[in-house]
Amino acid sequence: MTTSAPLTQDELKTLVGQAALQYVVPGEIVGVGTGSTVNKFIDALATLKDQIKGAVSSSVASTERLQALGIPVYDANDVDRLSVYIDGADEIDGKGYMVKGGGAALTREKIVAALADKFVCIADESKLVQALGQFPLPVEVIPMACAHIARRFAAMGGQAQVRMRDGQPLVTDNGQHILDVRGLSVTDPLTFESDINQWPGVVTVGVFAHQKAAVCLLGTAQGVKTITY
Ligand code: 5RP
Repeated sequence: MTTSAPLTQDELKTLVGQAALQYVVPGEIVGVGTGSTVNKFIDALATLKDQIKGAVSSSVASTERLQALGIPVYDANDVDRLSVYIDGADEIDGKGYMVKGGGAALTREKIVAALADKFVCIADESKLVQALGQFPLPVEVIPMACAHIARRFAAMGGQAQVRMRDGQPLVTDNGQHILDVRGLSVTDPLTFESDINQWPGVVTVGVFAHQKAAVCLLGTAQGVKTITY
């Protein structure tokens, strides 16, 4: 008897990316997130490209991938609403609250999610957590506010570091910087998100509680598990 090897993380991402097609509404524009899991969804979406109107994208990277596959990309300002927004997460808890921004696209992700009736999170099972806070929390900030905001996080017990790329602070699609904050415990995601968003210089905090997932398609060793919140 042969036993098959467990699915790799990449294979789990492919499975959930394909499973997300069931939420795409024919004839409509679909909201598309950012990241390696979403890249699998975009590749799967290309097989339906003649059945949809197009996509609203949450990053330059996703836009380029969509367009390379022949999927029209609409400006967010040109749509009133979307039926669905499909995106990955760095962490998702038992209530559908998430940490996002590992790919630095959190601000546009939150904007496109806000346009959508339903957030469908696609993730492999490594992303499922009891409580948010193990993954360093991404916060997009106006560069001149970095040091001040880092001090405010330090006062809460967090250690904030400017995300670097090639020896320079990473610059987001919006021309801003990312602080990654370790050591925080996010016990009340709704209040936490609201509070940090009030700080001068914060563009977007990577807790997605007000824009939480309605559904999570979780890639597990047993296949794709659908969790609704
Ligand atoms: C990008 C994100 C991504 O959804 C998140 O980082 C998960 O990415 P991946 O699917 O590559 O694990 O929030 O800003």
